[in-house]
Amino acid sequence: MAFAGSAIGLGSIWRFPYMLGENGGAAFLLVYIVSTLILSLPIFIAESVIGRRTHSNCIGAVHKLAPGSIWRILGILSVFTPIFILGYYSVVGGWSIEYLWQAVSFRHTDFADFVGGVWAPLICFAIFTVLTCAIVAGGVKSGIEKFTSFCIPALFVLIVGIAVYSLSLPGSGEGLKYLLMPDFSKLSPKICAYAVGQSFFSLSLGMGIVITYSSYLQDKEDIGFTASGTAISTLFFSFLAGLAIMPAVFAAGLPPAAGPGLVFDSLPYVFSSMAEKAPLLSACASILFYISLLIAALTSSVSLAEVGVAWLVEEFKIRRGAACAVLCLVVLAAGALCSLSFGPLSHITIWGNNIFNIFDKTASNLLLIAGGFLGVLFVGWKMKKADVLEEIRKGRKGRDRMPDVYYFIIKYLAPGILALVFISNFF
Ligand code: PHE
Repeated sequence: MAFAGSAIGLGSIWRFPYMLGENGGAAFLLVYIVSTLILSLPIFIAESVIGRRTHSNCIGAVHKLAPGSIWRILGILSVFTPIFILGYYSVVGGWSIEYLWQAVSFRHTDFADFVGGVWAPLICFAIFTVLTCAIVAGGVKSGIEKFTSFCIPALFVLIVGIAVYSLSLPGSGEGLKYLLMPDFSKLSPKICAYAVGQSFFSLSLGMGIVITYSSYLQDKEDIGFTASGTAISTLFFSFLAGLAIMPAVFAAGLPPAAGPGLVFDSLPYVFSSMAEKAPLLSACASILFYISLLIAALTSSVSLAEVGVAWLVEEFKIRRGAACAVLCLVVLAAGALCSLSFGPLSHITIWGNNIFNIFDKTASNLLLIAGGFLGVLFVGWKMKKADVLEEIRKGRKGRDRMPDVYYFIIKYLAPGILALVFISNFF
């Protein structure tokens, strides 16, 4: 459940539909599913092996297995990447605060007008960031976790409901076709590489989260089972989000390649058309939906922030509250740039990407892939094969050949593919 909680978040509900819309629809979905099952799943297992073998945080884990070596980079990357991601993740978290506020106050502002402004998106982003850091500082995570166990199922029920409703809208058929009928002429190395990046982002791979969580796993637990459970539930959730969003996008006549605003453009259309028939139901559904989205975003942002805070506390021996304040300032500075990049700073672009997109693409397409690459190299080439296989076999019933298949992928296939993906994304 904890793995699923970290995995299911804005990545599935906000990022997946917009990446799919920008990168060829069903063809992207297909590559995303295949790469999750044959690539991300074994990489998830590799990161779990590092965590459970050492029962320590990522820097400590690498230190235990390879003291004082160049592999320290793996640990450093896993501290740096989450902080980087938090910068723009919090901006999107802020958007969900604004949309919740709009739902509660029965008004609607066009997404482009909202993010194009200065203060409204900045204030929402700042509230989200401060909330995240306050939760981490106060250590009230157990409360949040209890809340999650309610919110993830609620989000699930709501998304299924929205999907059913959005499929009933006139013109939604085109969206369904876009989601399910692959046009293979759209496939390109770039789209495949983006799909791998999305899969990493969704499964929280390549940044030490899986290593850290797995360090708490007991020996009776089957790593392959937890990894497959997480991968399949994330795939399923993302697919449902696609089913809820894409038909609505086409029914509303929106361009599928609208970018990061896609979900925030199309959902209000669903809720407002629902309101014409059942105003009370629509009001309740939209409020509950944005609350759940906010909680899903917060549980993820808290785990992203925790990595940096733990590092500051352990490495620099500063108090937890002070560490949270430092992190908060860093995230506020980086995130403000991302937030303003849809408005006053929209003229700053690199190859057509604004600051927000640069953060997003650098993190998902380069940093996560690099982290995953080093992780599999470490497990496949630095750790002993017998140790790795023993770890994968622990808690596994029966003597099947799957651990050998996973090992083969970790050692040979994954490093090769990830190197290609990195190069493709880099250029
Ligand atoms: N996987 C989360 C999502 O899809 C994002 C995340 C990454 C959360 C890393 C925690 C840690 O939204």
